[in-house]
Amino acid sequence: MNNCYVYDKPIGFFDSGVGGLSVLKESIKILPNENYVYYGDSKNAPYGVKSAEEVKKLTFKAVQFLIDKGVKAIVIACNTATSVAIVSLRNKYTDIPIVGIEPALKPAVEINRKGKIIIMATPMTLSEKKFNILMNNYKDTNDIELLPCAGLVELIESGIIEGDKINFYLKQKVGKFINQDISSVVLGCTHYPFIKNELKNILPKYVPIIDGGYGTAKQLKRKLEENKILNSCSTKGYIHIYNSLKKNNIIDLSYKLINY
Ligand code: DGL
Repeated sequence: MNNCYVYDKPIGFFDSGVGGLSVLKESIKILPNENYVYYGDSKNAPYGVKSAEEVKKLTFKAVQFLIDKGVKAIVIACNTATSVAIVSLRNKYTDIPIVGIEPALKPAVEINRKGKIIIMATPMTLSEKKFNILMNNYKDTNDIELLPCAGLVELIESGIIEGDKINFYLKQKVGKFINQDISSVVLGCTHYPFIKNELKNILPKYVPIIDGGYGTAKQLKRKLEENKILNSCSTKGYIHIYNSLKKNNIIDLSYKLINY
C-alpha cells in the first residue's frame, strides 16, 4: 500500500509575488512527490524598494500564513526577504526548517571565467548586510559589478516577460557591458529567470546566466532528509497557489509561469 503518512504535509513557498515560482519549478523537478503551498504577496510587490522593516513585517505575516496551512518546511523564495528576515525567522520558528535564497555569487566565481561577474538583483538585496558579507569573500579577487534593477519586478508581475518592453529595459541595464569581457550574469532575484530568454538575446551566446533556483531546491531536499520528513508517497504531489492580490489573473499568471 502507498503509505502517505504525516510527511505528506506540504512545503510552503513564499515570495513577494510570482518570482518564487521559478524556485518552486526547480523543487518540483527534484521532489515531484512533495505537496506544495505557494504564497505570493503581489499586493505588496515590489519588496526591493521598500524599507527593510516593512519587508520583514510582510515576510513574517506571509510565513504565518504558511504555518497556518500546516506546512512542514518553508522556502523563502525571495532574495530580498531572505536578506532582511531569514535570521529572525529561524529564531522564531525553531521547529521547522526554513530555507532561504541568496544571489548565486559562489557558483559564478567557481566557473572561473575571465571578466566581470554582473549581479542583477533588487536595490535592497544588494545593499543589505547579508549580500555584502558574501561579496566581501570574493571582491578582492574578482571583478564584481552590482546591477540594481528597480522596475523589472513590476513588469514581470504584470505578466510581461518577453517583447519590446523587457528588451528595452534589459538593453538599458546590460547593454553597456556587452563589449567588455563578461564572466557571467547572476540573476539575484527570483523573478528574473522568467526573462532569461530575453537576456540571452542581448548577451553574447557564451556568457553563462546563473540563478539560485536549483541550488535552493537541492538545499531544501537536504533539509527534508536531515529532518527525516521527506514525503514517502510515490505519486505526484499537489500544488496550491495563493496570492494576496485576490484576482484570478494573478493566479492564472502563476500557473502560466510554472509551466513556462
Ligand atoms: N523575487 C524577489 C527577490 O528575489 C523580488 C523582490 C521584490 O519584490 O522586489 O528578490
